Amino acid sequence: MTIKAIVFDAYGTLFNVYAIASEAERIFPHHGEALAAMWRDKQIEYTRLRSMCSMYKPFWEVTQDALVFCCKKMNLDLDVNAQKSLMGQYANLPLFPENLEVLEQLQQQGYKLAVLSNANTEMLEGIVKSAGMETLLPHLLSADSVQKFKTAPEVYQLGTDLFGLPARDILFVSGNCWDVCGATWFGYASFWVNRTGSPLEELGVAPHGQGQSLTDLLDFVAQQSDQN
Ligand code: LAC
Repeated sequence: MTIKAIVFDAYGTLFNVYAIASEAERIFPHHGEALAAMWRDKQIEYTRLRSMCSMYKPFWEVTQDALVFCCKKMNLDLDVNAQKSLMGQYANLPLFPENLEVLEQLQQQGYKLAVLSNANTEMLEGIVKSAGMETLLPHLLSADSVQKFKTAPEVYQLGTDLFGLPARDILFVSGNCWDVCGATWFGYASFWVNRTGSPLEELGVAPHGQGQSLTDLLDFVAQQSDQN
């Protein structure tokens, strides 16, 4: 494996999507964590349904639809202000604490870096800007350009097209196991940031490396470069 470029997923990998739980808890006491978890699952479920049936809609809208459904399901009264505030969290998610330093080191080591996400470009530009990472992450690849969501191969192909490299020379990094599996199936070298100690999905595919935080990625990348 010769890693020449590294492509990162956004939510759950660079940005802590579950931090939304605290705002959800403020608005809906005792339901914040459950709502954040159900919202994320429903959001991903809708991306899959829409991709499978060629019924694409931008991720922002899918995310909003998922929120409305989850609040109905949990009998939570989602008024306009609550909806605005919860959706607004998506523009302002915190970075996992180690990420900035890890990305800086990888860039200094000469790796080309990009983000490849289901989010539409406006969402990605907003969050990368709010984290002050524009120079670290100049390439923001959005599923919007192919009107399908991961794990559709057309979305993963955005990374190989951008760098003009074979997938095996690009390391795909995600905190979402399903995403790492999709990327590995596509042909990427892959690294799973398994922050919660989850078991591997039973899909008959495994990432090439895994760790508990993005810091572990530095060791993995160094090992691969030593072997070449
Ligand atoms: C992303 C979400 C799905 O693509 O994690 O950024």
